[in-house]
Amino acid sequence: MKNNTKIATAWGLTLIAAALQVSLAANPAPNPVNQGNDDYVEYQNNVDASLADGANPGAFTVDDGKALFLKARGPNHKNLSTCDFGLGPGVLKGAYSELPRYFKDTGRVQGLEGRLMTCMKTIQGYSEDDIKKKYLMPEYKTADEGDSTGSDLATLATYVAAQSNGLKFDTKIDDPHMEKAYHLGEYMFFHRWGEMDLNCATCHGYNGRTVRGVPLPNLLDTHTAGMVMAAFPAYVIKDGTMRTQWWRNERCVMAMRLPWLKTDSDLDNALTTFMRVQATKSDVKINIPGSKARA
Ligand code: HEC
Repeated sequence: MKNNTKIATAWGLTLIAAALQVSLAANPAPNPVNQGNDDYVEYQNNVDASLADGANPGAFTVDDGKALFLKARGPNHKNLSTCDFGLGPGVLKGAYSELPRYFKDTGRVQGLEGRLMTCMKTIQGYSEDDIKKKYLMPEYKTADEGDSTGSDLATLATYVAAQSNGLKFDTKIDDPHMEKAYHLGEYMFFHRWGEMDLNCATCHGYNGRTVRGVPLPNLLDTHTAGMVMAAFPAYVIKDGTMRTQWWRNERCVMAMRLPWLKTDSDLDNALTTFMRVQATKSDVKINIPGSKARA
């Protein structure tokens, strides 16, 4: 308990330091929530409309994901139908809407990709190495521009996430682990680092910012955060394949010239927790597969 208080105090101080750094920087203070992020909303609606009604090719991935989920695989020849995503073994409906959450068995806050990896290990018997090489490596490679190789992990994630379609996000900060993950994610979002001295808020904390002519989402605007989070895993038109939330986080971390964001690392889960809490404050409903033009 004492240690937790110490950690909390340390985070508090670091956050204050980070906040000071941001407010002293040349950028104006980030926009307050919910002032609308119209240029992004219009841009994204056009991307969605560019796919003919109901014809998001990612829909095939939902079916492929189901088949893969129910296929006996790995050294144990088991399928994933008993995997616990937080609502009990095998309960998929609504599970994604509450992730990330704290899992007692791993003692960690995890999101969808991490939980799938845990079940591949504990239920199917894959080793950490197997998962990295066989199931993560393709996705690791495809974080590079111009490689459209899909991954089993993204296929499985698409199926599980789609079982929360029509629900709002409901990520709860209801225990000290979640609190810590949230504050770590918030810290990561606002901390300026790397050789370019950027934070996520530089590009995603204001309305009306564009990069290469593309309007950027203001992730501090809760409606916009809801729209963004409710669309991942998303079908990325340029890549012709499905991409997960981790992948999206990693794309920007890489653009910031930061070290590799490991899937299911505490940092990955913290960033997602921070953004899901933003999304939880909105009424936007989960709608998987989403669609993205490029990334
Ligand atoms: C230098 C600017 C920049 C920085 C810094 C940046 N991003 Fe991004 N971000 C982008 C661009 C560009 C896109 C892709 C826009 C597109 O083409 O749709 C994007 C897209 C995203 C998306 C998906 C948006 C959508 O439309 O679905 C998320 C989520 C995201 N970034 C999170 C982050 C996080 C978290 C950080 C900090 C770790 C971060 N970004 C830092 C520029 C940036």
